[in-house]
Amino acid sequence: MAQQTIFVRASTGTYPVAIGRENLHRLHQFLAKGELSGSVFVVSSPRVWRLWGRQLLLGLRGHVAGTILFDDAERAKNLQTVETVCRQLVRAGAERESVIVALGGGVVGDVAGFVAASFMRGVRLVHVPTTLVAQVDSSIGGKTGVNLPEGKNLIGSFHQPQVVVSDPQVLSTLPARHFRSGLFEAIKYGVVADRALFTFLETSLADVIAQKPSAIELVIGRCATAKASVVQRDERETGLRQILNFGHTIGHALEAATDYELFLHGEAVGWGMLAATHIGMRLRKISGGDANRIFRLIGKVGGLPDLSEVEPGRVLRHLRADKKTRYGRLRWVLPRQIARAESGVKVPDTLVRQALEELAEIREQPLPTK
Ligand SMILES: NC(=O)c1ccc[n+]([C@@H]2O[C@H](COP(=O)([O-])OP(=O)(O)OC[C@H]3O[C@@H](n4cnc5c(N)ncnc54)[C@H](O)[C@@H]3O)[C@@H](O)[C@H]2O)c1
Ligand SMILES: [Zn+2]
Repeated sequence: MAQQTIFVRASTGTYPVAIGRENLHRLHQFLAKGELSGSVFVVSSPRVWRLWGRQLLLGLRGHVAGTILFDDAERAKNLQTVETVCRQLVRAGAERESVIVALGGGVVGDVAGFVAASFMRGVRLVHVPTTLVAQVDSSIGGKTGVNLPEGKNLIGSFHQPQVVVSDPQVLSTLPARHFRSGLFEAIKYGVVADRALFTFLETSLADVIAQKPSAIELVIGRCATAKASVVQRDERETGLRQILNFGHTIGHALEAATDYELFLHGEAVGWGMLAATHIGMRLRKISGGDANRIFRLIGKVGGLPDLSEVEPGRVLRHLRADKKTRYGRLRWVLPRQIARAESGVKVPDTLVRQALEELAEIREQPLPTK
């Protein structure tokens, strides 16, 4: 597959998402096209920089005024890191016309995005996502932010990038577990928005996991298109955009209940999608046939950490806490069929408990790992 460009309409203007091999080497072209003429500051993590920093510098033809690295562990996604990065920017001479290039996964993107949104009341931002999650999801749509001890992503703002430059080749160094974790987010797009993507994942999963260029490029392109189409119709998540939270209600609670240590985000979403599909079946929102297709595809990706260490009571407590921080409303997204989901569904606590018990049953019959 050749180069793909997907345009995202936002209130601040339209920006391109460019997907293609060798894009990292051509980064200067995207900056030139976007008339991004200010001094360029790269924000990344030591690990990503070690792997891809040289290529990025070559791609930018050396036009980099400063490089700021921070540890991109989820626990470092906080206000302290934002302050540290901002102070380093000042000391390195960044000013209002500077451009921040975020090179990394979702953590780097969310932190660098929030820095770009707030530094000098806002500077321009370019995303160069390096994980599957970041290429299919977090680099598109303008959500930026950090965590508080009280919960994830509670501080943040919307700040759209000038351009997103994805190069699937950078995924070659991603640990296999992180790659699979990203696949669960890709499945999410299939379930809520794109039947052809879902079918493709059913038939060609092995090629995608092997990162066969045509397969991985198709998946990134279709996910980016689905995300763009949803966020441009609902930039600030007042309605439609909520469907992208499919699998995330229980997913977030699972992450919080295990102190963000047991699951990668996508894995928690994998369990969350299984739970929401169970609930959807109980509420007769989705047919058994479609529900089984979802169960099977998630099982085929496999590798979900088992839930034996997760106490259902803790998960329910976190769901309740989540409800409090969201104005007493838990936004359940349930699948109706492949490529259609319904958001804002009220789910009785008893059903949630039942779903958690269903998850425990799945635990006893481990999902296949291939
Ligand atoms: N803003 C949004 O819309 C949005 C959407 C989804 C997720 N998120 C956020 O994204 C974060 C998760 O992001 P993630 O899944 O990309 O993980 P991540 O950013 O935590 O990265 C995972 C690990 O992979 C490493 N890494 C990154 N690129 C690599 C590469 N090419 N090769 C080798 N190692 C590499 C990182 O250093 C890190 O150790 C969460 O904080 C989540 O809240 C935000
Ligand atoms: Zn997610």
